[in-house]
Amino acid sequence: MTTLPAQPAPSPEPPTPPGDWWFGNLLEFRADPLGYLARVARDSDGIGKLRFKRDVVYLVSEPDLIKELLIDHGRKYRKNTRYAFMRRVLGQGLLLSEGEDWRGQRRVAQPFFTPKGIAERVDDVARLAAEAAESWRPYAGAGEPLETEAAFSRLAQRQALQFIVGPMHERAADEIARHVEVSVQNWPERPRGRLGGLRPPNPLRLMRLKRAIEGTDACFFGFIDEYLARPTEDAGMLPALVAALDPAWTSEMKRRRLRDQLVTLFLAAFETSATGLCWTMYVLDRHPEVLARVEEEVGRVLNGRAPTAEDLPRFEYLDRVISESLRLYSPIHSLSRVALEDDTIGGCPIPAGSTVMVSLYATHRLPHHWPDPERFDPDRFLPERSAGRHRYAYIPFAIGHRNCIGGRQAVVNAKVNIATIVQRYRLRLAPGHPVEPDPRTTMRPRFGMKMLVEAR
Ligand code: HEM
Repeated sequence: MTTLPAQPAPSPEPPTPPGDWWFGNLLEFRADPLGYLARVARDSDGIGKLRFKRDVVYLVSEPDLIKELLIDHGRKYRKNTRYAFMRRVLGQGLLLSEGEDWRGQRRVAQPFFTPKGIAERVDDVARLAAEAAESWRPYAGAGEPLETEAAFSRLAQRQALQFIVGPMHERAADEIARHVEVSVQNWPERPRGRLGGLRPPNPLRLMRLKRAIEGTDACFFGFIDEYLARPTEDAGMLPALVAALDPAWTSEMKRRRLRDQLVTLFLAAFETSATGLCWTMYVLDRHPEVLARVEEEVGRVLNGRAPTAEDLPRFEYLDRVISESLRLYSPIHSLSRVALEDDTIGGCPIPAGSTVMVSLYATHRLPHHWPDPERFDPDRFLPERSAGRHRYAYIPFAIGHRNCIGGRQAVVNAKVNIATIVQRYRLRLAPGHPVEPDPRTTMRPRFGMKMLVEAR
């Protein structure tokens, strides 16, 4: 009697939550993208398959499977430029390039992000933080709230510009800030609400946006031309970026490439940092007992002086506050990848060309990793309470080869900025001001964040 060879068991398809016959899961997703993905993540077994009309998106939410996707199988995926528009703005910088081009750019940028390199920049970061904080003095006790989203954005822009092009940024920083504000106001909206996708883009907004982007570009080309005409070592990352350019390129190709790199680093650095600072100051206001501990620690460590690199490790509680704020209000709320070949994640088939998504917002709220997930509790990050938690249950800076190159810098800037603010002021949410996370490219507060400034 012959026995047939055993057939491999078919790989299981990830479950699809119930949805509309035509729209699939799109309507529920559009109605509340963050909440919907958090519910799907909680109710799935680590991977779910969503249908948005004819498009399929896999949602990977368990830390083990996120590791499989972004680390173990990382090279089988490319970044998903969800908005062709984004590519038009950023071009071929570090964030959106792929393959050899990306590898070369990452190699050139990496030395700027060593602990030593970051420590050397702390005094600049602190000086710019103090200047910004002093410029808010007229708001102290005045009754008129400070629009902190715009104010923190300007601060983070200056810190990013100082880092990437050095002191020459100063003459153009205000102009860049104005262009950024117009861009933010006119950026194409992600379809919102059940019928949001049916709204046509507004041509007037698009024209204003185009002008603002051209204005920002002109400022960055100005930095590049100034540096190329009079090279100096004190020009942030520019000397290294220029030295790494392909000598075979025409000068126009070189200028274009430098613009892409600078604008990408600028945007990646300031937008996330400003958003993170906004949410941290908001949660501090909502949790007076946490704010009191931060004020005590900052007072004890600094005794009224400006923060230095040596002070930073002593901000132990502030470190946990920043982590907990990044957990609940991750400025990058989701990541998206496209499969370059057939793959499996958690044993489930992922056909080539599929879109695979990780919602940081959802994973950071999985109740079996984060008990009582909506509670703001910085002491979750105490070593004794972190023992046993999956290493990748907390991924505000992503993981794998495309993780955030600036994560360490971001935490240092956050410590310096918060300490500088807390030394001088208490920021109180303006009475009646609505607060709601808006999952755009970053997770900004939908209505901005108006706060009253009280001098301490
Ligand atoms: C709180 C602040 C920040 C957060 C939450 C954050 C988060 C992230 C995340 C999640 C990614 C991965 C995106 C993806 O895979 O699609 C990323 C990439 C990146 N970030 Fe950050 N970031 C922050 C600050 C910064 C800063 C300060 C810099 C630079 C100084 C920076 C530069 C970059 C760059 C260049 C990339 C692309 C890296 C690559 O693809 O090789 N980020 N960031």
